[in-house]
Formats: sequence, C-alpha cells, structure tokens
Amino acid sequence: MSTGSRPLVARTRAELAEALKRVRTAGGQVALVPTMGALHSGHAALMATARRTVTEADAVVVSIFVNPLQFGPGEDLDRYPRTFEADLEVCAVAGVDVVFAPSVDEVYPGGEPQVTVEPGPLATALEGASRPGHFRGVLTVVAKLFGLVQPDLAFFGQKDYQQLALIRRMTADLCMPVDVRGVETVREPSGLALSSRNKYLDDEDRLHALALSHALLAGAEAGSEGVDAVLAAARAVLRHAHGVDLDYLALTSPDLGDPPELGEARLLIAARVGTTRLIDNTVVLLGERPDGQRTS
Ligand code: PAJ
Repeated sequence: MSTGSRPLVARTRAELAEALKRVRTAGGQVALVPTMGALHSGHAALMATARRTVTEADAVVVSIFVNPLQFGPGEDLDRYPRTFEADLEVCAVAGVDVVFAPSVDEVYPGGEPQVTVEPGPLATALEGASRPGHFRGVLTVVAKLFGLVQPDLAFFGQKDYQQLALIRRMTADLCMPVDVRGVETVREPSGLALSSRNKYLDDEDRLHALALSHALLAGAEAGSEGVDAVLAAARAVLRHAHGVDLDYLALTSPDLGDPPELGEARLLIAARVGTTRLIDNTVVLLGERPDGQRTS
C-alpha cells in the first residue's frame, strides 16, 4: 500500500475488517505494530522495520490503545499521555497503512473479560514482581489484537524485554500463527532509552535517569570477566547515582532464565526516578573478550 500519506483510521472491528479487505483478498500479508500511542522514534523504528519487512502490496497496521487491563491500581492509566493527532503524523511519515484506534468498549465489550491469558512463571519475576497482573493484561490485549487484526507478523521492542519474551512464549505455547519480531532499543544520544513515560521526567530527573543506561553499559563492558564482574560494574555506577531508587538489576539468559557462564546474556534494570518508573536492558556477551577470544 502507499507510503507517506495519511493512514486510514479504523475505530471499530468492522472498520478494521473493511480497511484490510483489499490486501487480504489479494493474498497480501499484514504486519502489526501494537502501541499505546504517545508515539516517539522508538515506535517509529518498529514501524520502519515493519514497512521494510513486508512489500508495498502488504499492509502495515499500527494499533493505538491504552489498555486498562495492564495498569495496576495507582499506576498512570489516567495520566498516560494521549497525543492522537501527533501519533497519526508519526504513522504517516513511517508509511503506515492503517491505524487501529478502538475505544475501551470496542476491545472489552462486556467489561473485564472472564477469560484472560495466564502468563505463567516468567511473569512473576522482574517487572511482574512489582506489577502484579501487568503481564496478564498485556498478553490478554495482545492476544485480542492478534485475533482482531490477524497479522502474519508482529513487531515489538527489545526495550520491554520481558514483555517481548512473554509474547514469544505465548505465541509458541498457544500455537498462534504470528511471526513475532524483536526490534532494538532506540536511545537518545545521551543513552536514555526512549519511552512515552520520559514525558514525566523534569530536567533533573532526565540527568538522574542516565544512570540506568550508564550502569548497563558498564555491565556490558565487563562481560568478558564473567557474571559477577558484570553485576559489580553496573552496581558501582548505581552506587554513585543520585535520585535513582533501584527496583532490580538482574543478569539472565536471553529467555530470562539463569545466566550462562559463556555467551549471550541479558542485563535488565528497573528504577524509580522522581515519580516515574523506568526500565532498560542490554545484551551482554559473557566470557568473550572484545577480540572474540574466550578468557581463561
Ligand atoms: P508501548 O509502551 O506504547 O510500546 C509499544 C511498542 O514500542 C513496544 O513493543 C515497545 O517495546 C516498543 N518501544 C517502546 N520504546 C521503545 C524504544 N525506545 N525502542 C524500541 N522500541 C520501543 O508496550 C506497550 O505499548 C504495550 O504493553 C502493548 C504491547 C501495546 C500492549 O498494550
């Protein structure tokens, strides 16, 4: 379909089906980028990757839906930034064909659903430990979006690494015919990972928030010295950080199990900066020197 022009906006299931009819009849593919709006360059990178991955005869769909089911009591559902007109512009520039922006009633016609997706043990650690019910809400809405849009491919950011891991797990365990693709985290030049929640940070918070990406970088740079050195290097940065209330710092395998002694691992961090909870993560290569040789 076209690039650069204003995308079609579908507000209901019927409008969505209508918007995708031509591509489906022609046997084209549908690529989905689920979002909650307040779109920034991180979201735009997902859209650009989706646009590059499928052909012009296929459709890129962006969903914009602030999903109440994934917000806990006292979280920021009511103050979550809503910037629909600007979001449409971001989608137009990225060559998105259809924006699916349903109301809460359209997605949850009978109120809270009786049947939800139980995310299993992966969802109780890390983010799940401080946000009970969060991943049940995420997986339930993603399953619903998969049902409504019926995408062939779906794109998610590595920025929300546990979310991506759980979505991969859901599609595998529940045999969902969607090819899930992860996209690298987009950062400001300072290292700060882009996030819709960065809007809540004042200038001082922004400065303090840099400790997260700095800690991850220090950890990754110590990868050749092993697990303990990675955690020690990251903690050393955090020890000197101001205004950062650490929730967790964890080194795991790529699928969030125990870290391996050698090879690829993931370093994940969450902290409160001012009133805002931020998360970030990076890949770490354990036991490999920068020249690719193993140590000892
Ligand atoms: P939201 O926070 O809007 O993020 C939408 C997608 O953009 C997610 O896949 C997220 O990982 C990705 N993203 C956010 N910041 C990014 C960055 N700096 N670089 C790369 N990708 C980034 O995540 C959600 O919405 C919701 O939980 C959702 C999956 C839509 C379900 O409601």
